[in-house]
Amino acid sequence: MKFVLAESAGFCFGVRRAVDMVLSESGSRHERITTYGPLVHNPQVIELLKLRDIGCTDNLDDIRSGMAVIRTHGVPPPVIEELSARGLALLDATCPKVRAVQTTVERQAAEGRTIVIFGDAEHPEVVGLVGAARGRPCFVVRDEAEFDALGLSPDAPLTLVAQTTANRERYQQLIEHVQPKFARLEVRHTICNATELKQEEVRDLAKHVQAMLVVGGRNSGNTRRLAAITEELGLPTWQIEVAEELEGIDFTPYDKVGVTAGASTPSWIIDRVMTRLRELEEEELRPGRARARRLLEALAATHATTGLAAGSLAYVGAALLGVPFRFDFFLLVALYVLSMHVLNRFTETGVDKFRDDPKRQTFYRRHTLWLWPVGLGSGLVSIWLGFHLGVIPFLIVLAASIVGVLYSVRVVPKSWMGVFGFRRLKDLAASKNVFIASAWALVSIFPLFFVAETRDWRRLILAFLFLFMVTGIRSVFLDLSDMAADRLVGRETVPLIFGPQRTRTLLRFSIVGLAAGLFVTAALGWLPGLAWPLAVWILGEFLLVEFTRWPAKMATLKRDMIVDLHFIVAGLLALTWRWAG
Ligand code: F3S
Repeated sequence: MKFVLAESAGFCFGVRRAVDMVLSESGSRHERITTYGPLVHNPQVIELLKLRDIGCTDNLDDIRSGMAVIRTHGVPPPVIEELSARGLALLDATCPKVRAVQTTVERQAAEGRTIVIFGDAEHPEVVGLVGAARGRPCFVVRDEAEFDALGLSPDAPLTLVAQTTANRERYQQLIEHVQPKFARLEVRHTICNATELKQEEVRDLAKHVQAMLVVGGRNSGNTRRLAAITEELGLPTWQIEVAEELEGIDFTPYDKVGVTAGASTPSWIIDRVMTRLRELEEEELRPGRARARRLLEALAATHATTGLAAGSLAYVGAALLGVPFRFDFFLLVALYVLSMHVLNRFTETGVDKFRDDPKRQTFYRRHTLWLWPVGLGSGLVSIWLGFHLGVIPFLIVLAASIVGVLYSVRVVPKSWMGVFGFRRLKDLAASKNVFIASAWALVSIFPLFFVAETRDWRRLILAFLFLFMVTGIRSVFLDLSDMAADRLVGRETVPLIFGPQRTRTLLRFSIVGLAAGLFVTAALGWLPGLAWPLAVWILGEFLLVEFTRWPAKMATLKRDMIVDLHFIVAGLLALTWRWAG
């Protein structure tokens, strides 16, 4: 039994844009945010927004203050005018492609043409399109019979448009039916490429599988249409909203099952479904191989590999400083980073939990009992090791641990929110990437510097900057990759503030800048010769940046392991350099 996931499964451009826009606003506004109608047709996304205090109402009168959000499918223009007249802040998350169809309808209707919309009259997008005609002749039809029933005069100037998520073949049939009869017909091909791509892909996939699983909201028109296509092709088809619904399905009679998802289905739901399906597949694999894979995944899920990566990087820092390395310091850094990652999983609440890899979530749920002590114990041991190094190292590790643990905790009372503008450190823009890079670099280099016999301050600054940059690049890359996989990163991350394109450019510039900086400082003799190979090593991060283009193809735990391995390679590089020198 094998499950094949369609390439285009999940969020389309318009839905992703709308969710990002609203989440971005929710982090920066103090007043209530309310979407007029569901932002997207997926109950789990709406649930997630609720956790972010983003309300949803179908009643215009409920929105009297704060910010009003126009949903992805758009609304009739008079609704926007009414909300503006109330003096409300407006966030228009209408998909640009839907907006383009609205503009067409508005213009063509104003020119005196009769508008015919191919679609579902009840669908919010179609309601918005009809509203765009502003009371001028505009009709909605589902097929040729309904069109004929309109009894339009063949001389009428007619404009035909389709709901963006309509069935392409059926629209074509309607066009062919209407074209010969109406000389003054203008046809607009308004079905969205994302919808067409999904529909074409599902037809293609259907040729290679014996059954199809469609993931997405039952109230989502485009998801239902995907299921309808495979049913019409004669394939047994199931539509589910969440992974838990898989338990009632028997896939055993089929060798190959296709999996697709609607445009409003977020990747965290697809991931959960695929995780369960891969487990079903894995049960058929050789048990030894399955065990080895589970062990590696457990190492990545617990962040043991991240701890190892941190220790390796601390070794690089010591080599750049030119001070002797100590194993207890390696342990201190590795345990500090391990404990911060583990403890932060437990302090995350509400919406933050939706951001994590489903395998890691399941792992933490199953093993809470021993992961808590591991996180706490590692943190205490790292502080104790700091204490053994001296007063300053102890204070550095202690301060970094306190800030790290409190990062996701609401430390500012709600009543003081107006004064501070935030309740958690996490609410500060880009704080996650800056805090991780600062804390990691600080703990990895300063304690060792203060116990060293010789202190070169210039090297300290340069080595700190190096560690800050590489850990910052790593952190931003991981968030960018999560964002590409629809994992709904928050305002605490750079990608949500700058957007994916600019973040990718920023990462590329940072990598090249860092490599150039290493070359120059090595040439000037400000850093030891290790800076030369490190300058080449850092260029390897370009490959990581490219990974963010194929998020669906890479499981998160595997991606994390590769990123950690890259740091471990830097440690081995430093070890070889010291050994050779
Ligand atoms: Fe927009 Fe197309 Fe998605 S119209 S909302 S990008 S399906």
